[in-house]
Amino acid sequence: MRRKIIAGNWKLNNIVRDSVILAQGLKPEVASVTDVEIVVCPVYTALESVGKAIESSNIKLGAQDMYWEDQGAFTGEVSGMLLKDVGCRYCIIGHSERRQYFGETNESVNKKVKAALKWGLRPIMCVGETLQEREAGTTFDVVRDHVEGGIAGLSEKEILDVVIAYEPVWAIGTGKNATPQQAQEVHAFIRGLLKKQYAAAAEEIIIQYGGSVKPDNAAELLSQEDIDGALVGGASLKVDSFTKIVKAASAKV
Ligand code: PGA
Repeated sequence: MRRKIIAGNWKLNNIVRDSVILAQGLKPEVASVTDVEIVVCPVYTALESVGKAIESSNIKLGAQDMYWEDQGAFTGEVSGMLLKDVGCRYCIIGHSERRQYFGETNESVNKKVKAALKWGLRPIMCVGETLQEREAGTTFDVVRDHVEGGIAGLSEKEILDVVIAYEPVWAIGTGKNATPQQAQEVHAFIRGLLKKQYAAAAEEIIIQYGGSVKPDNAAELLSQEDIDGALVGGASLKVDSFTKIVKAASAKV
């Protein structure tokens, strides 16, 4: 049984105070959920404060990006070493917004994934096609390219710590989620790719879906065989909607 992971990607939102209020609001609401891994990913400047707010709770801390070098003359960057230092356990890597606006490539994603693993951070590696690519019929080629490029060179032991998030770009922030069948089809394809390289580990690897996950579509998406969690943007910014999604992932609540 794969343990589902629900991660909130807060993106570029919330000053420190509001991030802490959100985290504190969430804590009692999800405290009873023991069968789901819960992660929140605030902006860098709020990581330490949110980390303190969720101390000794069942919520884990994640960042939204990182650099692959540990330290040195890399003005403006934040490394895995620094994220570990403030209590991060996860780091989103290769989000489509970073690929689109900040020049992220499969090569940089691969370096970041390796650096995250080196620091004991679980990378949440994002993959997914644009609308143009879907309409051109190249979804599977693009996803294969993102997956294989991102995990190149990882050992069977390392791959078990990687979370893959399938996020069709056309579904992010648009209110247009993939249908559960569309999502499941790509998730099964990703697991098939993993099986070729990591026969034993593939069944254990967590593959999240992301893209307009909301309380009213979460349960159906999460009930698909190969959907092991969600990476949630917009709906993670409110205690109520994020809590409902977390509970939709739980078999017990
Ligand atoms: P969304 O974002 O839930 O707002 O569509 C998901 C993401 O970008 O991770």
